[in-house]
Amino acid sequence: MTASPTYGALTTQGASTNIAWHHTSVDRAARAEQRGHRSAILWFTGLSGSGKSTLANAVNSALFEQGLACYVLDGDNIRHGLCNDLGFSDADREENIRRIGEVAKLFLDAGVVVLTAFVSPFKADRDKARALVDPGDFIEIHCAADLDVCEERDTKGLYAKARAGQIQEFTGISSPYEAPEAPELRIETGSSSLEDCVAHVITHLQAKELIPAQGPS
Ligand code: ADX
Repeated sequence: MTASPTYGALTTQGASTNIAWHHTSVDRAARAEQRGHRSAILWFTGLSGSGKSTLANAVNSALFEQGLACYVLDGDNIRHGLCNDLGFSDADREENIRRIGEVAKLFLDAGVVVLTAFVSPFKADRDKARALVDPGDFIEIHCAADLDVCEERDTKGLYAKARAGQIQEFTGISSPYEAPEAPELRIETGSSSLEDCVAHVITHLQAKELIPAQGPS
């Protein structure tokens, strides 16, 4: 194993000129072999209150108990720091999802099963995040609770505020949510038990051999 990185050709990436990709000695494959499992991006999308964070957290716990390297990137949490310069305009949501797509890609390279829980309301933005990685690495999971169920739950009191005109551009009320047309998984988070939803996700990951049936050997 070499100690120093090798460099690709100089390129321009957006506003960044004269940059070269540095190839590190420890790569994703080496990490997968050491850990005994592959990495993946589990991209949860759905309305506010649809159960994205709850399901991502529960799946993360199940993976963790199996001994897998896993991590949740949650919209509300990420907006406390990395994305606290962004609001909820279409352009800011696009930039939010662009950053999270890139961060998720880093976790993928780091050998971690990364679970992202963002409203991510726009199909084009989700598709751009998907396009950053290889086919099979991006599992789109639609938390498909209906708007009336989410509004009835109103876990954070935001729907009431949005209806009262106190929050602008609120997803489902005054800003659109574009449901995935062909997600890898559609989970009925409005009507199924959390246990069943978790089992649905875990069964899919095992069937795709993204995670072992048991913990890593
Ligand atoms: S996204 O649209 O850019 O993907 P993100 O998942 O990061 O959204 O943040 C959504 C969270 O921000 C919601 O769970 C809610 O608590 C809060 N929020 C505040 N304002 C809005 C809004 N206008 N629309 C949707 N969510 C909002």
